[in-house]
Amino acid sequence: MSQGVKLPLPMKKGLGATDRVDDWWKGPTAMAAYLGIMIVYATWRGFMEADFWIFEDFGRSAGTQTMAIESEGSHVLSPLFSPLVLPGENELGSMVPLALAWMSPAMFILIFPAGFRGTCYYYRKAYYRAFMQQPTGCAVSKPWNEYSGETGLLLVQNLHRYFLYAAIAYLPILSYDVWLSVNFHDVASHAHSYGVSVGSLVLAANVIALSGYTFGCHAFRHLVGGGSDLWTENSRPTLRYRMWRFSTWFNEYHKEWALYSLFIVMFADLYIYACTMGWLTDIVLWGGL
Ligand code: FES
Repeated sequence: MSQGVKLPLPMKKGLGATDRVDDWWKGPTAMAAYLGIMIVYATWRGFMEADFWIFEDFGRSAGTQTMAIESEGSHVLSPLFSPLVLPGENELGSMVPLALAWMSPAMFILIFPAGFRGTCYYYRKAYYRAFMQQPTGCAVSKPWNEYSGETGLLLVQNLHRYFLYAAIAYLPILSYDVWLSVNFHDVASHAHSYGVSVGSLVLAANVIALSGYTFGCHAFRHLVGGGSDLWTENSRPTLRYRMWRFSTWFNEYHKEWALYSLFIVMFADLYIYACTMGWLTDIVLWGGL
């Protein structure tokens, strides 16, 4: 008769103590550095009241050497500030009272993407380990023993599905920004033309990355495919099944979509910031005026 294994298995005690011989600490350390840089950058930019879009003040496009420019509503807008909310700016149609003009445009809207990522199942695993040592790592001792799960304040994580709805709404908004960025207007002659600048491509890449991240969301996968026992109809796959497969394809790489899409959105903002500061020129690759 075999002897049963006694649980829990003996484990070394003390922060970071473990019998593991691999470089288990590299992943959480790299994640802490990556997320830390992104959070600091987004916070710094989130307080800015300017330098978030490229428009006609930066000059008209000419060949491949000048800033891609738009007017009459067109622009290359940083995704961190989209949709753009400017209090009291009537010509922009803002419903926000002028009394809130002390807030930067990003402050009105960043709660939605920040909430979406902050409650994401993948990011939760990443920052619980990287910042909270909860756990420090698999089979690695952590500073405290108790584990209460996602209770108390962490019940806010249950809002993820609602942040998902907001994230879905962002996709057409950011796609519209791409559309605006390829429209060129000449104010004097009212001439209109299409063109593609590096900024347009950066915005488009951001929409693609954010779509991959959103459609692979676990809550989205449940939304389109959950609660259904019927995958076929007249021996043909149902629409829900197709959508579930579609979401599953992205979901299998959810970590990668999560990390790359975060990088691209910050890069897009940094690129536009660099253009508005005059450090870079948003080169027109095709068309323009
Ligand atoms: S689980 Fe990651 S975005 Fe929903």
